[in-house]
Amino acid sequence: MNVHTYEKAFLMLGGVLLVACLGALLYASMAMGLHLPGRAGAVDPATVFSTPPFDEPGLRQTGEGTFEAVVIGQAWVFRPDTLRIPLGAEVTFLATTPDVLHGFHVAGTRLNMMLIPGQISRATYRFETPGEFMVLCHEYCGLGHHNMHAKIIVE
Ligand code: CUA
Repeated sequence: MNVHTYEKAFLMLGGVLLVACLGALLYASMAMGLHLPGRAGAVDPATVFSTPPFDEPGLRQTGEGTFEAVVIGQAWVFRPDTLRIPLGAEVTFLATTPDVLHGFHVAGTRLNMMLIPGQISRATYRFETPGEFMVLCHEYCGLGHHNMHAKIIVE
């Protein structure tokens, strides 16, 4: 079979790009530890407020420099509305909602999850910059959507 020189060159280029992208993906997931927010379990939306750990939203220490933040997003507030996080802490967020779809995005970071009724969302992030970060709901959830925010203070 005779393959044209240019076609051969483009096939080579395509192959090289494919390998480069795969390499970048593997590097990000394995060497840099970047992961998509995952599903961490299920919870009955009707009993969220009495089901651990969601019966006590907030931050708790789980180890040296590691914390767990339990968050509930509901129309149209986050519980808790303020989280104070020590600088350098690695925080695993567990979040859900008792009503409709909400978003959980910490502005200025890659922390971004969907809050889905019945589902527990999980994401881990290390806070290495001090300051105040706005937490925004980025999924339209009704009349009060634009007022649904919270803050994270890294100190
Ligand atoms: Cu909650 Cu938009």
